[in-house]
Amino acid sequence: TKRIGILTSGGDCAGLNPVIRAVVHHANGNYGWDVLGICQATNGLMSRPPQAIHLDLNEVDRLLTLGGTMLGTTNKGDPFAFPMGDGTVLDRSNEIIEGYHSLGLDALIGIGGDGSLAILRRLAQQGGMNLVGIPKTIDNDVGLTERSIGFDTAVNIATEALDRLHFTAASHNRVLILEVMGRDAGHIALNAGIAGGADIILIPEIPYKLENVCAQIKKRQDRGKHFCLVMVSEAVCTEGGEQVTQMQQFGECRFGGIGQYIASQIAEYTGAETRVTVLGHLQRGGIPSPGDRLLASAFGVAAVDLIAQEKFDQMVTWQKRQVVSVPIAEAIQNYRNVDPQGTMVKTARGLGICLGD
Ligand code: F6P
Repeated sequence: TKRIGILTSGGDCAGLNPVIRAVVHHANGNYGWDVLGICQATNGLMSRPPQAIHLDLNEVDRLLTLGGTMLGTTNKGDPFAFPMGDGTVLDRSNEIIEGYHSLGLDALIGIGGDGSLAILRRLAQQGGMNLVGIPKTIDNDVGLTERSIGFDTAVNIATEALDRLHFTAASHNRVLILEVMGRDAGHIALNAGIAGGADIILIPEIPYKLENVCAQIKKRQDRGKHFCLVMVSEAVCTEGGEQVTQMQQFGECRFGGIGQYIASQIAEYTGAETRVTVLGHLQRGGIPSPGDRLLASAFGVAAVDLIAQEKFDQMVTWQKRQVVSVPIAEAIQNYRNVDPQGTMVKTARGLGICLGD
C-alpha cells in the first residue's frame, strides 16, 4: 500500500475540489491507499508539524459541486525566496522537502498552473519527491494541454456576463466594456467574447489600434446599431506595448486599469457613452461547470494511475479527446497563449469581430 499527498497551489479556480474528490475515490476507494490533503499549498509542508488531513470517501462526499479548494491555497511565497514578513526573503525549500518525507509520503500530486508546477518540480528534483502534476488555471495557458481545470467555468461566467450586458448596451445605446482575467493570455477574452457575441475583442496576443476599434463602432452605427460590446483582456497591450504605463495612470489596482483606459479612449474619439465592468474574481469562484467536473475527474483518476505505475515528474494533459501524460518540464517550457493564426482567431474574424489590428 501507499501513502500519497495532494495539494492545490496558486490561485483558486472552479474544479479543484472535484479533482481532490477523484483522487480520493481512485487512490483510497479503489487502491486502498492512504491520502493526505496538504493544507495551504506547500506552506502545509513547511509548517511544524506539517499541516495535513486524512481524506477518505466520506470526507469528499460533497466536493463535486463546490468551488474553491477545501485544502486552501496560496500564490504568495516562493519557497526558494520566501517572504519572512520583515522585508527579507529566505530559501525554505528544505523545510518543505523535510515535511514531505516526515509524513512518509510515497508521492505527491500537485495541482497548479505553470508557475506552481515549476516550483513543485524544482522542489521534487532537489528533495527526491515523487511528483505528479495536474494543470489548473482559468487562464488556460499551461503548455501541452488543450484544457486546464477552471477555464471552462471561467468562460461560462464571462459569457453569461456578456449576455447580461447586451441588454443594457442595447437599451441605452452604450458601448459596454467587459474586462476579464488572463494574466498573460487572452484565452478567456477570446472564447467568451465569441460565445457571448462581442463586437470587439482585445487580447494581449494581438496589439490593438484605437482607430480600428473606433472604426468598428462607427461601422455598427452606420447600420443603425448604436451600441457595442467590447471584451478586453486584462493583459491587453496597445501597439507600443504600453500596458504598464496605462495601468499606472489608473492607479495601483491591478484590475480595471486597462478597461477604464480603453473606455475613456473610445468616449473621447467616438463620443459614445461608455461603461466598464471588471469581472475580477467572479470568474474563479462558484460551482464548477460540468465540463470542469469531467476534466477534473479524468485528471484525478489518471494522476493516481501514474503513481500506481511509478511514472513520476509527469503532468496529466488533455489532448485529442483523451488524457495522456507529458514530462512536467516540457509542459512548462511550452507556455501556450492564443495563437494569432489559430482556429478561434479565424472564427472571430469570420464573424466580423474586430480584434483591434
Ligand atoms: O492566474 C489566474 C489569475 O486569476 C489571473 O487571471 C489573474 O491575473 C491573477 O490570477 C489574479 O491573481 P490574484 O488573485 O492574486 O489577484
